[in-house]
Formats: sequence, C-alpha cells, structure tokens
Amino acid sequence: LSVKRPAPVLPLVTVQRASATPLYRQLREGYRAAIVERRLRPGQRLPSTRALAAELGISRIPVLQAFQQLLAEGYFESRVGAGTFVASALPQDARAGSGTGTPEPTRPGRRPVSRRSGLLPPPRVAPWLAGAGAFRMNETALEHFPFATWGRLVSRHARHPRRDQLAYGDPMGSLPFREALASYLRSARGVRCEAEQVMVVSGSQQALELTSRVLLEPGSAVWVEEPGYGGARDVLTMAGARLVPVPVDGEGLDVQAGAALFDRVRAVYVTPSHQYPLGMTMTASRRLQLLDWARRRGAWVIEDDYDSEYRYGSQPVASLQGLDRDARVVYIGTFSKVLFPALRVGYVVLPPDLVPRFAAVREAMDICPPALYQAALTDFLGDGHFARHVRKMRELYGGRRAALADALAHGLGGAPELLGDEAGLHLTLALPRGGDRQVAMRAAARGLLAMPLSSCYLGPATRQGLVLGFGGTPLDSIVPAVQRLSPLLAR
Ligand SMILES: Cc1ncc(COP(=O)(O)O)c(C=O)c1O
Repeated sequence: LSVKRPAPVLPLVTVQRASATPLYRQLREGYRAAIVERRLRPGQRLPSTRALAAELGISRIPVLQAFQQLLAEGYFESRVGAGTFVASALPQDARAGSGTGTPEPTRPGRRPVSRRSGLLPPPRVAPWLAGAGAFRMNETALEHFPFATWGRLVSRHARHPRRDQLAYGDPMGSLPFREALASYLRSARGVRCEAEQVMVVSGSQQALELTSRVLLEPGSAVWVEEPGYGGARDVLTMAGARLVPVPVDGEGLDVQAGAALFDRVRAVYVTPSHQYPLGMTMTASRRLQLLDWARRRGAWVIEDDYDSEYRYGSQPVASLQGLDRDARVVYIGTFSKVLFPALRVGYVVLPPDLVPRFAAVREAMDICPPALYQAALTDFLGDGHFARHVRKMRELYGGRRAALADALAHGLGGAPELLGDEAGLHLTLALPRGGDRQVAMRAAARGLLAMPLSSCYLGPATRQGLVLGFGGTPLDSIVPAVQRLSPLLAR
C-alpha cells in the first residue's frame, strides 16, 4: 500500500536555461534521478505542471513534455481527479536503486563521538514491559480526564493567542503560570516559594538534566536511593556523576548509612513523599536529619515530588523543601501523574541564588518552554479544574488501590506484604522467596505488566517483589488480572 505524501512546496529539480540540454530533458533526468535515489518515494504527490513551471520560471510546455515522458516510462502515474504521483510500482531500473536513501559510512575512519554519549546503553524496553496490560506503571486513568474542558482551553489559546505567546519567552516560563504554580505549591505542598523561583520544564526529566548541569561536575559524587528511580540515575550517569547507592529503610533514605558509605557528596536525590519504588514516606525526624547533614556537608538536596497529590487515608505530608532553612533543596514536580505523561510539563522550585544560573543554562538548552500548554494550564489551575480533577482522581485511585490490595489478599491467601500503598499510583508486593524477574516474565506472557523490584537496584537486590501500577488499570480488570497473577506466585 503506498502512502500518500503531500506535494513538495519547492521542486526538487532545477533547470539551467543556458544549458545545451533541452529543458524537458533536464526535468525528466532530474525527476528520474530523484526517484532512483529515493529522494522521491512511490505514492508521493507531484506539483501541478502549472505550479512547477511558475516555480522554475519557465514555460509550461517543457514541463508537460517531461511529465508525459515520465508517465509513459512508468515513473509517474496520474490518478483521475487527484493529480500526478510517483508510480507505486516503479520500473525495474528505479527499483534496483532501492535502499534507504541515507548515506552509510563508506570506509573505516575516524568517526569521533563523545564519551558521555556512550555512558548509557541504547534504550531498550525490558522484556517484562513489552506490550500493554494490567499493572503498567506510569499510566493514569485517561478515560476520566476532562478532555472537553482541556480541549476548550487549548483551542482558545491556539485560536486567539496573545502576541507575546508567539514569540520567544522567558527561560523560566510564563509568569502567570508560575504564579499559579507557586500558589498551588505553597498551599497544597507546603513549598516555601515565590513565582520568581519557579521554572517551568518539560517534565521532571528535564528538571533533573538542568539540575545536573548547574550543580555537578564530571566525577561529582551523588547519593541516590537504593532501590531507586532509573530515570534519575540515567541523567546523573550522563552528567558523569559518581552514583553512591544509599539503602532506604522504613523511614526513607538512611542518612547514617550514606554517611558511613561515602560522605563527600555534592548532592542527594530523594523521593521523600513516596519513595520510588518502595513507597514509604520519609519520616519527619529523617527529613530533619537529612537537611541537617546537607547543611553541614554543603550538599544540595534534589527532592522529586512526582506523585504526592495522591495520598489515601493518611494526612498529606508537606514537602521536604518546606522544612529547609538553608535554601539547599531543589524541588521538582510534574503533571505526568496528575494529568498525563505526554503533556511533558513539570516545574522546579529553585533556591533564589541558583535562579540566574538555571535560567542561563535553560536558555542555552531550549530557550524557553512552549507557550500553548502553559497558557491552557494557567486557566486549568486558575479556574479550579485542576483541583476538581485531583479530588475526583484521588477517590478513583483510592478505589483501585483498595481493590488491588483486597484481590491480592484474597488471591494469595493470608496477608501478602504490600509496601507503599499509602500514596501514589503503584504499590509493591514483596516476594520473600525471590525470583521476581522470572515471575515478571511469566506475567508478561499472560498480558500483565509487573515490574520486578530487583530491576530498581543499582547494586545487588536485597529485596524482591513486583511493583504494580494501578493508576491505569480499571476497577473491573483488577480481580481478573490478579487471578492471572496468583498462580505464578504460588510456584
Ligand atoms: C520517581 C519519578 N520521578 C519522576 C517521574 C516523572 O517524570 P516526568 O515528569 O519526566 O514525566 C516519574 C515517572 O514515572 C517517577 O517515577
């Protein structure tokens, strides 16, 4: 089946009027070469002879002659009422030249690349994560997202943009959006901030990248939670940081253990509201201990608060940033869990003295965030849609979480050990007998997407289990999915 491609705006072929070769021959040769070299592909629409003659500044007669010949030779085909196209079945000589059309290295030689681009293996999807299925992480209940409202806001700003929304903007983001964010973070997350400290980014991932560029040197040591979030580890690895995995216990990152392992670190990356992936909330005393250590050590604290809008049963916990008395915390948040990940909108709250550096680095990276979603989100927050959505989803996810916990208790008999089910969109089912990767592989074969806990360790895994996302798994799919999972756990 040939893919329809739109007509090119400019002709791919040029003609030289002074040449001894007639114009129609130049055109015919030019198109033939473009097809053989696969610059033009089967099914691609060609400009009208009138438009092409006008573009080239020549009479229409040689263009008509060239097109007639290319049609007769089978390079072009015309479809009644639709126009002229590159033939979907090309003559033999044109097919012989088929390749990708992309040049390949012709001989061995120097092709130097950066060392840092080789620090990470090429992206690959872990075998247990291939395909779709119940318990997939990072999925939200999209069927409950208010698309009509959202669409109205986006379309309003797309159709009637203010002039300044079409130009390059502030590298920190649009001020009205940052004001809305600051107000939300102060009241709902206990973050101590003004709009001037808030930078809009394309998700936590960009926030981490920026933070690494501003705070770290190649070789800087950074504490990361063990087990922990691979997305953050990848950014730090790319920055050339030396990662020091620090165990987490029931209270969160074990500061004393970290200090005993390696104390001279530049920064620490933590998920205190809902540790990723084990899900405990860092206790108040541990928070104070961490901040105190950071102050004495002169280390930065990178707080990733990725899903704490969703807490079930227990009181909301304020951010670590809110307890900080030494402006040491870089606070990162995202709309990936509260709205949807493809939005790619997040934010960083910066210590005031770091603002100019972050702004300069950001400007060099991608200048400023895109204006359209910032404008729509400003209204989404300001008009109360966001708060309404979060309230509604908290209830919905609470129901899914309870259903999953019940189904696991029922399906596995007794009281399975569930970790981190107080908040967020996932919980971890401990597997005291181990074998989590094998279980995850077998679950994948049954259309389930369980992430093995051991895959979240940088060093040897000291615990095994299955990390189960419930955000994107509808209530009525939970029991059947657990019924498919249970026999795998009994083995
Ligand atoms: C610990 C953690 N941080 C951040 C994110 C979100 O990243 P982003 O905002 O780049 O979508 C996730 C998503 O899974 C996460 O698990």
